[in-house]
Amino acid sequence: MFNATFYLRRLHSLCGLLVLGMVLFEHIFTNSMAIFGPQALNGALAMMELIPKPIFLGLEVGGIAIPLLFHGIYGIYIALQAKNNPGRFGYVRNWNFTLQRWTAWYLVVFLIWHVGYLRLYTKGVTGTPISYELLQNYFQSPIVVLLYVLGMFAAIFHFCNGITTFCMTWGITKGPRAQTVVSYLSMCLCALLCLITLTFMGSYLI
Ligand code: HEM
Repeated sequence: MFNATFYLRRLHSLCGLLVLGMVLFEHIFTNSMAIFGPQALNGALAMMELIPKPIFLGLEVGGIAIPLLFHGIYGIYIALQAKNNPGRFGYVRNWNFTLQRWTAWYLVVFLIWHVGYLRLYTKGVTGTPISYELLQNYFQSPIVVLLYVLGMFAAIFHFCNGITTFCMTWGITKGPRAQTVVSYLSMCLCALLCLITLTFMGSYLI
């Protein structure tokens, strides 16, 4: 019998790891150019402008907006069904499960603000190009910096812990030892990406 829930879950999982994971890596890579100064970041942003507008828009809609909306909306449905119990059992895995849900909730609010303000309003409505100078001005407020760092940490943890759950969902890691190794490696990746984020965010403040 056709099991819609099974296929929706699998699609949600693939969307999160492959599509949104690639978006996250691209985002961290481009933004890390700020570490090398205004010219490097503006150069990286200008390279993207070389992509013909209709193709770029198609990539934004088909490669980011639709997968993100699907993953986000179906994710809210999954999160509403979850029973969080970190305090009751205290296992690392229970905590990771709960943090996966908490970061998802933070991401819903953060991504609406981030995409809404920078992509839709600033670039889309006012036609102001995103540049190092614009971001430096934006990050004058310590509250904005704090909420952005938390948003990036949430996305990074959510993605990296997602690698562990993805490998279990798809039967890639079957035994407990393999699951522990993947979990350890994905938390190392999480620490590395958070460090890169702190470095490029910090470069706006000095
Ligand atoms: C818009 C807000 C988001 C919500 C509400 C959300 C929600 C969720 C939920 C509830 C899960 C757990 C699914 C399960 O246990 O079966 C999950 C898994 C996952 N999410 Fe998200 N998510 C969001 C954004 C993101 C983003 C931005 C990324 C990538 C950077 C991402 C990547 C992943 C990955 C890789 C998994 C693991 C898939 C698996 O276990 O097979 N998510 N998401």
